[in-house]
Amino acid sequence: DIRPVILCGGSGTRLWPLSREQHPKQLLSLISEHSLLQSTLLRSEDALTGNPIVVCNADHRFMIAEQLRQVGHTNSTIILEPSGRNTAPALALAVFEARRNAPDAVLVVMPSDHVVTDTNAFKAALENAVNIAKQGYIATFGVPPVTPETGYGYIRRGNQVKSAEAFLVDSFVEKPNLETARLYLSSNEYYWNSGIFVALASVFEAELKKFALDNVFSACFSAMEKSHIDIDFIRPDSMEFLASDNISIDYAVMEKTDKAVVIPLDAGWSDIGSFQSLWSTLEHDANGNHIKGDVVLKDSTNCYVHSSNRLVATLGVSNLAIIETNDAILVINQDRTQEVKDIVNILKSSG
Ligand code: GDD
Ligand code: MG
Repeated sequence: DIRPVILCGGSGTRLWPLSREQHPKQLLSLISEHSLLQSTLLRSEDALTGNPIVVCNADHRFMIAEQLRQVGHTNSTIILEPSGRNTAPALALAVFEARRNAPDAVLVVMPSDHVVTDTNAFKAALENAVNIAKQGYIATFGVPPVTPETGYGYIRRGNQVKSAEAFLVDSFVEKPNLETARLYLSSNEYYWNSGIFVALASVFEAELKKFALDNVFSACFSAMEKSHIDIDFIRPDSMEFLASDNISIDYAVMEKTDKAVVIPLDAGWSDIGSFQSLWSTLEHDANGNHIKGDVVLKDSTNCYVHSSNRLVATLGVSNLAIIETNDAILVINQDRTQEVKDIVNILKSSG
């Protein structure tokens, strides 16, 4: 089996007011009529044979089950976290579940909130990754970097893997500082880590045991041993699970393992981390604007304007993101859309 494992636990605060705690980014339809979660499954469908394992926050279970049903996945396994402990514990839960069902499936671990515009190129890279994973490697996808982004992992490629379109990973550095990211960018030897990992379930298990036995693996496997079924969902034991460290796959495993390979990915990949990156992924009119909903623009340039209910009109403005929803309106300079999370923090602290 080749099973997708979908990590679906983030909240995406930088897309407020579209994303909310109870309605996170991955469940929004930002690019097409499908949500980012649904698009994640649809784009990999042809290459994957097994039922998806989805790991998410318990609060989102009904929305997620419904979205999966809408794209024909009525048999997915949904594992519920009482509260997120980041991606390494989420992976450990999925690995336990996969091993319980089949001794050795290939797991294709994917974030649920990315955009890929060239589906064919993505599928080709995925098939390549699955073949390499069967040889015992952990395959990652390397995106050629274009800016010294500090929110990504960086992968330095080493020697080519024999007769394959892949390279051994010479080093993996998660979220370097700006100075280091600039060096990596100018060296032409690094890729951005796309956040997708492909390996045999047994390989993920072995590497988690090797590098995160006491802080992640034991807690998560015990949590799954004591899990119970709640309607259609799997609930790991809360006490056991919450004893795990809060740590990502990147820090817990990828920076340490010697089994990683990188497959170059040129498929229009992007991480929709802000309204600015959403705007740059979408198509623009002659003035560089992208509008959604009931919007009228006059003499406005390079704006992203999203109306949910009311008519939004602009005149003589440029470089803005304007987001209108039922209960909140955001007007923000496109250059500062990364800072939306600061507004969310202000709102949280003012109750
Ligand atoms: N189930 C679950 N539980 N999912 C989670 C949790 C959790 O506690 N935390 C995050 N996720 C999901 C998110 O919804 C997202 O789909 C995915 O896991 C990755 O988490 P992010 O929090 O978005 O990671 P990141 O963007 O900071 O970094 C990762 O992705 C980058 C590319 O976008 C790393 O892998 C980087 O190396 C990489 O460059
Ligand atoms: Mg991310």
